[in-house]
Amino acid sequence: MESLVNRIVALATPCYVANATPVVVAKVVKRTHPIDGGSCFLDGRRILGDGKSIEGFVSGIMSGTAIGFALKQGGLLSVQEAFVLSLGTMLGDTLGSFVKRRLGIERGDPAPLLDQLTFLLVALLLYQLVYGWLDALTVVILVIVTPPIHLVTNYLAYKIGLKSKPW
Ligand code: CTP
Ligand code: MG
Repeated sequence: MESLVNRIVALATPCYVANATPVVVAKVVKRTHPIDGGSCFLDGRRILGDGKSIEGFVSGIMSGTAIGFALKQGGLLSVQEAFVLSLGTMLGDTLGSFVKRRLGIERGDPAPLLDQLTFLLVALLLYQLVYGWLDALTVVILVIVTPPIHLVTNYLAYKIGLKSKPW
C-alpha cells in the first residue's frame, strides 16, 4: 500500500509541476513566443494557439525535471524519469491544444477531460515506452484523481490571479 502511494506520488509530481509551471511563467515573462509561430493549420485555425508558448514548454520540462532531484533524495524516482514524465506532460499538453483547435475550441475555452487528462496520458505513455511496464492500478488511480486535482488547482490559480479562467 505504501509503495503504491509512493509510486503514484512519484509519477504524478513531475507531471503536475511541469503542467503548472507555464501558467506562472507566462504571467511573469513579459512577452511569450507561441510554439506555432502564429501559423494556422489546413482548417484555417491556429495550429496550437497563443496559449502554448516556447517559454511555457521549456520551463515546464525544466521544473518537472528539477523536482526529480527532490524525488531522488526520497528514493522515489530518478531525475531521468522525472525528465521523461515532464517531457511527456508538455508534449501531451501541446497535443491537447492541437486537438482542441481542430475541434474548433478557442484558446482558453474548456474541453472537459481533454484539458485534465491529455498531459497525464501522454506522460504515462512516454514513460511506458521508455521504461516498460506501468501497472494498471497505478494508471487507473492517476486517471481518477488527476481531473479533480487539476480542477481545484486551476480554480485556486484563478482565485489568486494567475489565470484568467477558473478551469
Ligand atoms: N502556457 C504557456 N505555454 C505552454 C502551456 C501553457 O505559456 N506550453 C500558459 C499560457 O499562458 C496559457 C496558460 O499557461 O494560457 C494556461 O495553460 P492552458 O490551460 O494549457 O492553456 P489555454 O490558455 O487554456 O489554451 P488551450 O485552449 O490551448 O489549452
Ligand atoms: Mg486551459
